[in-house]
Amino acid sequence: MKMGFLFLFCYLLAFLGYSPVDAAVKKYQFDVQVKNISRICNAKPIVTVNGMFPGPTVYAREGDRVIINVTNHVQYNMSIHWHGLKQYRNGWADGPAYITQCPIQTGQSYLYDFNVTGQRGTLWWHAHILWLRATVYGAIVILPAPGKPYPFPQPYQESNIILGEWWNKDVETAVNQANQLGAPPPMSDAHTINGKPGPLFPCSEKHTFVIEAEAGKTYLLRIINAALNDELFFGIAGHNMTVVEIDAVYTKPFTTKAILLGPGQTTNVLVKTDRSPNRYFMAASPFMDAPVSVDNKTVTAILQYKGVPNTFNTTIELVLQDTNLLTVESHPFHLHGYNFFVVGTGVGNFDPKKDPAKFNLVDPPERNTVGVPTGGWAAIRFRADNPGVWFMHCHLEVHTMWGLKMAFVVENGETPELSVLPPPKDYPSC
Ligand SMILES: *[C@@H]1O[C@H](CO)[C@@H](O)[C@H](O)[C@H]1NC(C)=O
Ligand SMILES: *[C@@H]1O[C@H](CO)[C@@H](O)[C@H](O)[C@H]1NC(C)=O
Ligand SMILES: *[C@@H]1O[C@H](CO)[C@@H](O)[C@H](O)[C@H]1NC(C)=O
Ligand SMILES: *[C@@H]1O[C@H](CO)[C@@H](O)[C@H](O)[C@H]1NC(C)=O
Ligand SMILES: *[C@@H]1O[C@H](CO)[C@@H](O)[C@H](O)[C@H]1NC(C)=O
Ligand SMILES: *[C@@H]1O[C@H](CO)[C@@H](O)[C@H](O)[C@H]1NC(C)=O
Ligand SMILES: *[C@@H]1O[C@H](CO)[C@@H](O)[C@H](O)[C@H]1NC(C)=O
Repeated sequence: MKMGFLFLFCYLLAFLGYSPVDAAVKKYQFDVQVKNISRICNAKPIVTVNGMFPGPTVYAREGDRVIINVTNHVQYNMSIHWHGLKQYRNGWADGPAYITQCPIQTGQSYLYDFNVTGQRGTLWWHAHILWLRATVYGAIVILPAPGKPYPFPQPYQESNIILGEWWNKDVETAVNQANQLGAPPPMSDAHTINGKPGPLFPCSEKHTFVIEAEAGKTYLLRIINAALNDELFFGIAGHNMTVVEIDAVYTKPFTTKAILLGPGQTTNVLVKTDRSPNRYFMAASPFMDAPVSVDNKTVTAILQYKGVPNTFNTTIELVLQDTNLLTVESHPFHLHGYNFFVVGTGVGNFDPKKDPAKFNLVDPPERNTVGVPTGGWAAIRFRADNPGVWFMHCHLEVHTMWGLKMAFVVENGETPELSVLPPPKDYPSC
């Protein structure tokens, strides 16, 4: 009896979930138009949808009908593909130019009319002619049908992460020139996250994507590789990701530090904001296992816990751990631009549970170079109150050469007095 009731209840829920009464019609206007934008110190006109880069997100629920009026205001004849949507019996709305449709001519409109049936998750849309998808792309977010929960814990909030490529030159011109010479098309000049290259590129402080997250929550990231030619790794410093969906199909969840997406692929991950409140890099960089040159530059965005103002004048604690497969040896580590306090050293592996209790926080030595003991560790602390890019490296030249080096990027403070001075006029270029 109880079983029967439960069954009926579930049946009713399922029925309601799929009832056509709940299916909505989602309408969008896509005006394909030119917009001037600037990235990595270069301004150029690009083709966009509604002047946005990336373009607008299309939101729908499973079962909805979506109607998108694409009006072409640019010099190129073009079409848009709804990548991953199955378009049951409806190839008319699929979009690849000269395959299922003639391109939409300059000044004309075409109504893409389709149902979202049996799919939910993250997909995306992009221009499907020439190389226009370099700038004409955006996310498609398909929520589960009304009343249907995710098969994983309901995330607190979600964010789209669209990986892309940026060229300083006009992409169509550059590709045409290369074709005429019989040469491969030029590599991109930067990778982007939501159209932004991030702080490792010049002129990009304003063009940095930031997620402001609350501590102790679970976030859903909808990651899309919209790059043209590059397979990209993606990861978040200090955080694991739990993959829950790929290409708008739920998957058996698994936890990983990094994921790889080929152009066209999408991956949904859950991220727990359970680390110490701080700013963490999210980064993407390419995978390449063939002897082909690739734009190997890393794009970064920032996962910032709320209540963490910025990285200027915060206290940094760094534990340098010596380790080696063959031989261990000691390393004199030098930090440019700062003195630091050596609060602890030890042999063997640093124990984050026990060793901090032994730190000398009373009268630690202050210096600019610390000897990391052979097979041991050294813990240093400094206040990041000197904005700029500061090199840190092993002062044994042979080790620097082999790559025992890194740099800190310390952001400007609130006022010009707390910001990096302008570069000198005779600053050499390379
Ligand atoms: C883009 O900038 C160029 C040069 O400054 C200007 O001639 C053009 O009108 C601008 N285009 C748009 C769409 O704003
Ligand atoms: C599509 O947009 C164009 C330009 O705004 C407009 O003239 C046309 O009527 C629209 N088509 C539909 C079916 O709404
Ligand atoms: C757009 O298509 C029309 C009709 O086929 C053609 O006459 C025109 O040259 C095309 N424009 C471009 C820029 O290719
Ligand atoms: C979408 O679904 C509606 C309602 O079932 C149906 O009338 C319409 O023909 C479908 N459209 C397409 C393009 O399949
Ligand atoms: C990430 O997952 C690994 C393997 O499950 C685990 O050892 C590690 O502690 C996790 N790290 C974080 C930051 O949760
Ligand atoms: C990145 O690519 C450039 C140019 O192709 C090459 O000189 C450089 O060694 C590459 N760097 C890495 C880390 O692969
Ligand atoms: C940095 O923070 C410390 C501690 O809050 C404060 O004493 C100091 O004045 C700050 N320095 C700058 C340059 O803001």
